[in-house]
Amino acid sequence: MQASSRTITSSQSGPHQDLVRRVERARDGDWQRPPAAHTRGAFEAAAEWLEYQSRPLILDAGCGVGLSTRRLAEHHPDHAVIGVDRSEQRLARDHGTLPDNALLVRADLVDFWRLALAAEWCPAWHYLLYPNPYPKSTQLKKRWQGHPVFPAIVALGGRLELRSNWEIYVREFALAVKTLCGREGEVSPFVPETTSATPFEQTFLTPFEQKYFESGQTLWRYRVDLTATAIT
Ligand SMILES: C[S@@+](CC[C@H](N)C(=O)[O-])C[C@H]1O[C@@H](n2cnc3c(N)ncnc32)[C@H](O)[C@@H]1O
Repeated sequence: MQASSRTITSSQSGPHQDLVRRVERARDGDWQRPPAAHTRGAFEAAAEWLEYQSRPLILDAGCGVGLSTRRLAEHHPDHAVIGVDRSEQRLARDHGTLPDNALLVRADLVDFWRLALAAEWCPAWHYLLYPNPYPKSTQLKKRWQGHPVFPAIVALGGRLELRSNWEIYVREFALAVKTLCGREGEVSPFVPETTSATPFEQTFLTPFEQKYFESGQTLWRYRVDLTATAIT
């Protein structure tokens, strides 16, 4: 069956004109909202699990049903993979047994990221796979690059990979990183890897990736190494 996901339409033809100002405001601001109790509890349980794992961390932020968390854990048995999503409904979907080195956590990322930074977590890899695009120009502050939590995402460091079917989101995120810490990553379209089985099949990391690809949309990727980043 042919997937038919609509392409994103927006009045923006490039990065939002207010992006740099918003990123600088987030950098200079002192955002103090205390983390919600439920996310603090979820973070503490995840921290205990991670300590027990005693392996480098891969963070799968906004993991949805957690398929990417499972796949990343299978591909990286020497890493501990934590998938975080706020949707109980999505996390509850049955996609088989979780590998021992994977954990799904229900939490609000805005608080989870800040707690992770305060606890000096240093993910080896940090994935943001198909975040909600919020394509209306007025929705910039809802996109991660326009959100006050953005400096915490960057300060966590590691190798970050963002994927989206909206090129502008990816280019905007890259510009926001450059504004914050001067790092230049690589933005490119990509095609998911194929398996070696015959007939060849695409290996999708997430359901959204599959849906967009099978609808004929271009998938975009941004990769940047944020190791030892200084936010200036
Ligand atoms: C478009 S879906 C993509 C899900 C998955 N990565 C995929 O590609 O299939 C975006 C996900 O981000 C989650 N999300 C959005 N804002 C969040 C927040 N503040 N905290 C935790 N999860 C959030 C949503 O619940 C949703 O599952």
